[in-house]
Amino acid sequence: MLVTGAAGFIGSHTCVDLLTAGYRVIGVDNFVNSSPRALDRIREVAAGAADRLEFAEGDVRDVATLGKVFATTPVAAVVHFAARKAVGESVTMPVEYYDTNINATLRLVEVMREHGTRRLVFSSSCSIHGDVDVLPIQEDAPARPTNPYSRTKWMCEQILADLCAAEPGWHVMALRYFNPVGAHPSGLLGEDPRGIPNNLMPYLQQVAVGRREYLSVFGDDYPTPDGTGVRDYIHVMDLAEGHRAALEHIGDAAGFRAVNLGTGTGTSVRQLLDAFSAACGRPLPHRVVPRRAGDVAELVADPTHATAALGWRTRRGLDEMCRDAWEFQRRNPGGYDGAGA
Ligand code: NAD
Ligand code: WQD
Repeated sequence: MLVTGAAGFIGSHTCVDLLTAGYRVIGVDNFVNSSPRALDRIREVAAGAADRLEFAEGDVRDVATLGKVFATTPVAAVVHFAARKAVGESVTMPVEYYDTNINATLRLVEVMREHGTRRLVFSSSCSIHGDVDVLPIQEDAPARPTNPYSRTKWMCEQILADLCAAEPGWHVMALRYFNPVGAHPSGLLGEDPRGIPNNLMPYLQQVAVGRREYLSVFGDDYPTPDGTGVRDYIHVMDLAEGHRAALEHIGDAAGFRAVNLGTGTGTSVRQLLDAFSAACGRPLPHRVVPRRAGDVAELVADPTHATAALGWRTRRGLDEMCRDAWEFQRRNPGGYDGAGA
């Protein structure tokens, strides 16, 4: 398997899952949003299987890098994680986001085609839907992306669907993740964002180790049971297993398919704050501040299709997500590189 973005949060956990399940993996990453140390950790966690991991440093938009990988290693399928993913940054740097996310996908499928590999699992996002009218969200809910990042994901899905329509023989699965959180239970691998975290769980993790003073709760006047935003948090190891299930089922049907990966359960900011406080053994400082622009009240997946298509379902609950995230942060308070921003 070729895994692009292998050193990133979801890529690194997926590499461990694939390696320990017996796959050979070649990773590609340019470390624009990750540390080379994540690769050492993958090898450490996957211990006995570490010799099945190869790695090539480079940019997925660089066809020479990709071409060399395909020329030297048999690639049965590709899992394409490499992308830029910060919603706020995408609003201020749209050109960089369109360039990375769209061009990496285009170059990748061109090189895949050249080498006869036509099986691709693509990282998409529940955020392609924008604000939804019907919950839980099914795969055929309207796509109304509200920011450049989410538009790149929706555009890539359309490019891949057009490719499949034009060229029979491709098998492409777009996995639409809800809110991935947590860490490998070893505490060796986890989420290590650069700079100030944008997302709730990594921010809470950094409050818990004293790198941030307090959590800002973005609004408590939403039409939800406790007034705070509700999301479908999914343990990153469940997500990793979802990718393995996708690879195992990608041959079942030709063409393009989209599959939601979520739990089907909504959790509010307050509930997550309480669960994380329990995991780290102390109440965490927080303040309610106004809503964050662009946020919606509630997003929850309908995972029925994933279970039917992939034979997969999530196994880990909120307490496990918080326990594992805390274990990673406790053992790596400054992240992989120890510095911490
Ligand atoms: P991440 O930033 O931790 O990982 C992405 C990896 O890709 C990083 O290691 C980065 O260095 C690498 N990368 C970026 N551009 C590259 C390029 N041009 N060439 C080579 N490597 C490159 O992000 P993540 O959370 O692991 O997300 C993985 C994928 O899942 C992304 O496509 C993201 O958009 C998608 N996704 C993430 C979430 C989430 O909340 N984490 C939710 C939905 C979808
Ligand atoms: C979750 C909840 C916030 C931070 C984003 C992307 C989406 C996907 C996942 C990539 C919301 C609240 C947050 C904080 C808070 N990524 N919050 N204080 O916005 O659901 O989704 O990540 O595809 O595309 O949009 O995730 O973790 O930022 O927010 O109160 O400091 O936590 O308002 O209700 P979000 P999030």
